[in-house]
Amino acid sequence: MVKANLPEGTRVPCHVGVIMDGNGRWAKKRGLPRKFGHREGAKTFREITRHAKRLGISYITYYAFSTENWKRPQDEVDAIMELFEKYLDEVRDFIEENIRVRFIGDRSKLSESLQRKMASVEEDSKNFDSMTLVLAINYGGRDEIAHSCRVLAGKVRRGELEPDDIDTELIERNLYTEEIPPVDLVIRPSGEQRLSNFMIWQAAYAEFYYTNILWPDFKGSDLEAAVLDYSERNRRFGGI
Ligand code: IPE
Ligand code: IPE
Ligand code: MG
Repeated sequence: MVKANLPEGTRVPCHVGVIMDGNGRWAKKRGLPRKFGHREGAKTFREITRHAKRLGISYITYYAFSTENWKRPQDEVDAIMELFEKYLDEVRDFIEENIRVRFIGDRSKLSESLQRKMASVEEDSKNFDSMTLVLAINYGGRDEIAHSCRVLAGKVRRGELEPDDIDTELIERNLYTEEIPPVDLVIRPSGEQRLSNFMIWQAAYAEFYYTNILWPDFKGSDLEAAVLDYSERNRRFGGI
């Protein structure tokens, strides 16, 4: 078991978002098909989740599949979906560790069996409180905001809400993240420095941490480095 090595006084972010990127390049570097990179990335996901719990992170959200990732070749999409089925069986192990599991994204485009597994993991872990693990599958920040607007528009049409009552708080309450707090730190490995439609609302005041390490090579010590970097930052939220 890896020990957490954070110095006394480190400010640990409450909610960390991780854009799991670089799986394809990891495989390519080894002359392997891209799906091997996704398989390796799934191992990293398990390791980092356990490490995040040891560090005292309360919420960790992983970007696993975006609303734009359907553009990839069908065989890659199929391989990723197959991995999710496996992931979910393994995510069950987290339940034994008192970790609550939640999913965000548009589930309607996922297979029925995946949707069933997602609902049952959420139900079985809903009362756990050591940490919340959030998986973003078929997730897009823009899609999420549009979804919130549709819910509110329905309420207006039914006469339950006045257009003037719509404020940022109400939009936020109808996002997929509902009761999940805003993200404090977004980590993106693989060298890309962009959000790619990840939590665009919730990351409005997030700190960003980029590293060239590819996701399958990302270690607990890299998570600690990101947390330490975050701890040094001066967050002002528009104040002084
Ligand atoms: C991230 O790794 C995983 C998913 C988007 C599902 P990539 O597959 O994007 O890896 P690269 O960016 O091509 O290396
Ligand atoms: C973002 O990675 C999505 C996930 C990690 C799930 P991408 O690899 O899809 O992002 P772009 O295309 O490089 O922006
Ligand atoms: Mg990528």
